[in-house]
Amino acid sequence: MSTLVFTGTRPEIIKMAPIVKELEKRGVEFIYVHTGQHYDYDMSKKFIEELGLPNPHIEFRLENSSPAAQIGEIMIKVEKALESLKRKPRLTLVQGDTNSVLATALTSLRLSMRVGHVEAGLRSYDWRMPEEHNRRMVDHISDYLFAPTELAKRNLEEERVLGQIYVTGNTVIDSLEIYFEKVLEVERIVLEQVKFDEYVLITFHRAENVDDPKNLKNFIEILRRSPIPIVYPLHPRTRRRLEEYGLLTMLNNMSHVQITPPQGYFEFLALLKNSRLVMTDSGGIQEEATHPRIKKPVLVLRSSTERPEAVRAGFARIVDLNPSVVLAELEKVVSHPLELPSESPFGDGRAAERIVSVVEREVT
Ligand code: UD1
Ligand code: UDP
Repeated sequence: MSTLVFTGTRPEIIKMAPIVKELEKRGVEFIYVHTGQHYDYDMSKKFIEELGLPNPHIEFRLENSSPAAQIGEIMIKVEKALESLKRKPRLTLVQGDTNSVLATALTSLRLSMRVGHVEAGLRSYDWRMPEEHNRRMVDHISDYLFAPTELAKRNLEEERVLGQIYVTGNTVIDSLEIYFEKVLEVERIVLEQVKFDEYVLITFHRAENVDDPKNLKNFIEILRRSPIPIVYPLHPRTRRRLEEYGLLTMLNNMSHVQITPPQGYFEFLALLKNSRLVMTDSGGIQEEATHPRIKKPVLVLRSSTERPEAVRAGFARIVDLNPSVVLAELEKVVSHPLELPSESPFGDGRAAERIVSVVEREVT
């Protein structure tokens, strides 16, 4: 086995899937490790199954959830697992900016493997975000930096990273292309379960948003005053915080808000495709909204984004969390629908091909 493929959370599984498929197609042998950072069935295994990935060869059950302990525990477990392999893989692939990415990239480096960082070079310059710490560090210890866009490449060049940079596109676009037929298959059933004829789709889970009671209360106020009904798949981190602050009951009592459990990938994209617009603090959703078969305006519930390409292309607006500002923007977008471009700034759906070509060259 020449290559290690790591995932830890929902978006990593979705964005690594096209790479796994491409490795399989080309007969490049790999070991698939899921760190268990996301462990609920509907945040992890469901995606592995839906997207047709192999069962992870190695998988952990983490005991810690505080950030440092989570990173430490993953490092210890990865080190042990890799030391037990007869032959050490030459290359590790990690995707994104989670704690799993930092832990697995650093451990791989310590065990003398080369590291390939998929989705390298994104920068929000918001130092409150753990993801910004993780992506910066991983970019500087990676040998191969798979930048999704020219802007990401420039960010890396400005920081004088040591590894080799390749502009590949983002694999999130590949995933949409690969699985779009499945989205169409589930679309009717998904829409039958939506209570409203038209709706805004919302997701909200960033630590700097939901762990701060002031931000969480602003978010609830936005939901309460929304002039359009809302469909809201609730992330487990946010559910926990809402319960802690006694806000979940209030949310459950809003008749124009339909709260759902985290959705499967196809179901979620069906909801996105049929929404009027999406309000979110998610990274991946800012990208997916730009795909020609989705094409939705995005109001970004944050004060910055590491995906300014979506803003520049006219898909996204950064609105942060002041309820009056957000609601005014919402009214504006609904009453004057935006002219959206017919191309995504995040790639052409061939990112995995480009990434695996580099992998193949380096490991065979
Ligand atoms: C993590 C990533 C974030 C990514 C998100 C994708 C970091 C620092 N954050 O955030 O970049 O956008 O995943 O969704 O790595 N929980 C469950 N079940 C699960 C997973 C989490 O109940 O399957 C709850 C637990 O209470 C857990 C909390 O959510 O302590 C936070 O989970 P964690 O994985 O640490 O961070 P996320 O907020 O999910
Ligand atoms: N997603 C999903 N079900 C949901 C919400 C999101 O399948 O209920 C998918 C979405 O299509 C996107 C990814 O999860 O591909 C985004 O993950 P998330 O917002 O958790 O993380 P981020 O992208 O912000 O790191």
